[in-house]
Amino acid sequence: MPTTTGSSSLRRGRDAELTRARKRVEELRARIEHHDYRYYVLAAPEVSDAEYDALVRELAGLEQRFPELITKDSPTQRVGERPSTLFAPARHSEPLLSLDNAFDADELRAWFARVEKNLGTRGCPPVFCEPKIDGVSVAVVYERGRLVRAATRGDGFVGEDVTANARTIRSLPTRLRGSPPESLEIRGEVFLPVAEFERLNFELGSAGRPLFANPRNAAAGSLRQKDPKVTASRPLRVVFHGLVRVRGAVLETHGEALELFRALGLGVPAGARRCTSVGEVETYVRELEGRRHSFEHEMDGVVVKLDEYDACAELGATSKAPRWAIAFKFASEEQTTSLKDVRVSVGRTGVVTPFAVLEPVRIGGVTVSLATLHNEDEIARKDLRIGDTVVVRRAGDVIPEVVAPVPSVRTGAERRFTMPRRCPACDEPISRDAGEIASYCKNLGCPAQVLARLVHFASRSAMDVQHLGERTAATLIERGLVDDPADLFFLEVEDLSGLPGFGPRAAANLIAAIDEARARPLERLLVGLGIRHVGPRAARVLAEQFRSIEAVARAPEDELATVNGLGPVVARAVREFFERPETRRLIDDLRRGGVRPRESGPDRAGPLAGKTFVVTGTLATLSREEAKDRIEALGGRVASSVSRSTDYLVVGERAGSKLAAARRLGTTTMDEERFLDVLSRS
Ligand code: IVH
Repeated sequence: MPTTTGSSSLRRGRDAELTRARKRVEELRARIEHHDYRYYVLAAPEVSDAEYDALVRELAGLEQRFPELITKDSPTQRVGERPSTLFAPARHSEPLLSLDNAFDADELRAWFARVEKNLGTRGCPPVFCEPKIDGVSVAVVYERGRLVRAATRGDGFVGEDVTANARTIRSLPTRLRGSPPESLEIRGEVFLPVAEFERLNFELGSAGRPLFANPRNAAAGSLRQKDPKVTASRPLRVVFHGLVRVRGAVLETHGEALELFRALGLGVPAGARRCTSVGEVETYVRELEGRRHSFEHEMDGVVVKLDEYDACAELGATSKAPRWAIAFKFASEEQTTSLKDVRVSVGRTGVVTPFAVLEPVRIGGVTVSLATLHNEDEIARKDLRIGDTVVVRRAGDVIPEVVAPVPSVRTGAERRFTMPRRCPACDEPISRDAGEIASYCKNLGCPAQVLARLVHFASRSAMDVQHLGERTAATLIERGLVDDPADLFFLEVEDLSGLPGFGPRAAANLIAAIDEARARPLERLLVGLGIRHVGPRAARVLAEQFRSIEAVARAPEDELATVNGLGPVVARAVREFFERPETRRLIDDLRRGGVRPRESGPDRAGPLAGKTFVVTGTLATLSREEAKDRIEALGGRVASSVSRSTDYLVVGERAGSKLAAARRLGTTTMDEERFLDVLSRS
């Protein structure tokens, strides 16, 4: 009968699927176990959290579909891995569980729905939201106010006794303040501030030692040192986010626990907030993700936990995680990928910069396939080799960076990078002078340099020639129409029409844009010339003092050095530049081409007149100096610290105390996007 045939073929189909699933489950378990060992025991993970999570999720999904494949020792059924033998074992009084994750708003809402259902409440019970600090989990015991033990999480039941090392952490009080309860066990997170992580990696690399892939590994590695003196030399911090048990005090809510911790002199998560609706939690999550880089530690999400302990007790826990808390995970900012090649690019000053060609990888919603490697020494410092698996980070809008290799997965086929002997663009020798970090192609006529100089000349902060991007500049050079910036001013519409991508309209537009640039202020021309050490600020000082390019070109070195704080380095560079015969030719040609810089100075009646700005953190598209110049050019004032007279705080990545001060004073803040918008509209 057709139905029978149908169902038996269905069964056969399921059997085949089960066989496939069994194989995959086994594979996944082996991989997860391996990564657990690397992470928990060696504190040296090989894959990012996101990749690890994906493996666990796939395994959990298969086990859900085929429950017959679940075994007691599956990684989904356990809390963690075995502790190492470096430290004495420390049995936890309560198992230190992990947290379940929510990866999007739907999963977060589903968690709330489950909580409400299980508690039988209508609406959302009060919850606490906190940053999920990306550090090392610790359990700390105080008896009569004295620190008696600090232990890592280990497998959740037995951790490692790291008391001696933990005692070196200055934010961990050895004696509690105020009136401590008789006995207290608390959970917290040890972390290394991001700035300290960067400093530590720099030092390690300079000493030829392996780097840490991220601040968490650095914290774990520092806490698990054999010698507490090494731990002491690493500025670790600790904050506490949970009560395990207390004797001699009555605490009913998480909020009370955090208050008690504070009163006892213990750090608590910055930015914790009590919320009473799902909407409030969602707002908190969005806000925190937006400013995740303004914290001194890394965070990989938000932890949402019920405030009332009675409700927590009612919900209980699975073998792995409590039901009363959930971690909302942010998108990962770190991935591993393979370093396929290292190539070099040549800049306008002839600096030869190596860059990484990566197997494309998505990080924080953007595909990364290239990353600068700065210079030869930096590659050696990080011990990066072609063919390596590498950790790539892209924190917020910050340019992607190759942080470190994963040496443990090397096959032996990896190759060290050596700087090419000849320039890839002109085949002239590449050289590196004694005491210099950078390598140079010293051929001023090198096509790569000519192109980079032209693009710089036309760029927004210099002569701002609209419609002249890199591609057009390259075409003009290739066709022999332009050799140096002055040639632009001799171009005519007929020269351009017929070039690829140039209709009559585009040709006329470019010629009009070039014409407009003839009257740009002197300071912009000085920037456009690309004189070493002369950025917008020095250019403005020179323009204000000398008023014409000829006067700058004539000025003796000692006079230049004393102008408004320019100093000897800039003075030397300016003199050297104008003494070159090719510079003199270029200046003549610019004049013959009709370039007549107009007088300039800050626009005192500009659209930002009377407004005071402070800039904090790192901006992705402008240096601090450039931001200052742009504000001042529009008549605004730039101050160095936030006060009551500050109108706007421009907030970049990793903003710190200034942001806090602005919040206190109620100063208006704007992020980089908004700031650029204000500049372009003003
Ligand atoms: S509450 C039962 N709050 O995240 C677990 N954990 O992925 C209760 N973590 O091992 C933990 N910041 O060490 C909590 N604000 C925070 C946290 C936090 C980081 C860690 C915690 C745990 C891990 C779970």
